[in-house]
Amino acid sequence: MSKGIFITATGTDVGKTYVTALIIKKLIECGVKAGYYKAALSGAEERDGVLVPGDAEYVKTVSGINQSLNKMVSYVYKNAVSPHLAANIEGNPVELEKIKDDYKSLQNEYDYITVEGSGGIVCPIRVDDKEQIMLEDIVKLLNLSVLIVADGGLGTINSVMQTCEYIKSKGIPIKGIILNNFDKTSIMHRDNKSMIKSLTGVSVIAEVEHGCKDINIDTDRLMSVYDEIEL
Ligand SMILES: Nc1ncnc2c1ncn2[C@@H]1O[C@H](COP(=O)(O)OP(=O)(O)O)[C@@H](O)[C@H]1O
Ligand SMILES: [Mg+2]
Repeated sequence: MSKGIFITATGTDVGKTYVTALIIKKLIECGVKAGYYKAALSGAEERDGVLVPGDAEYVKTVSGINQSLNKMVSYVYKNAVSPHLAANIEGNPVELEKIKDDYKSLQNEYDYITVEGSGGIVCPIRVDDKEQIMLEDIVKLLNLSVLIVADGGLGTINSVMQTCEYIKSKGIPIKGIILNNFDKTSIMHRDNKSMIKSLTGVSVIAEVEHGCKDINIDTDRLMSVYDEIEL
């Protein structure tokens, strides 16, 4: 039976891909059959007429994952805007059935699937005259819990609290927080960690320093955040 976790963040460019790559690298090093999935990616680079999903390519390079790029991402858009807007410009709007089918087929191949979100937790995926799909609809469709990647520095208490409140309001379980670009020599970063813990009641399961090449977390602890998923 395959297990999964959804990686979100307090915003775009906070480090979801960076942290996801380190997580998958660690799992693979421990002999785990680890897979990656992202439902919708925007801002893809066009190379020889083909849109290349940058996040998947980065994860593949860092983690050494043996998964083809086209199985890592279901929808790839060129415009670097929210998926709903990219689809309104380019066409090819997200269909939840395809996401479910693509994820199910990964479940046949991988035991631990790390799913990267798009943007922060409030992200419109499809908004047109037929349907409105928000990112949380994908989290719920796949029956996943989330890990939140947040910056270690100034302003993070506010963005973590808002992210947690939104996720809780949607009835989605939060398994932990990972502080990225964490500087353990900074009194503010250390205080952010303890304030986040006490204000949210959610554990900070790892701190990732700037330029870090390996995530410092016990493998059993890491594997324990993945839920067994039946779709
Ligand atoms: N801990 C880190 N050390 C060095 N660079 C980082 C770190 N975290 C993120 N970055 C860089 O910051 C940028 C945004 O990170 P990324 O993981 O792509 O964000 P997201 O996936 O949340 O949009 C990327 O260029 C990435 O390489
Ligand atoms: Mg990313």
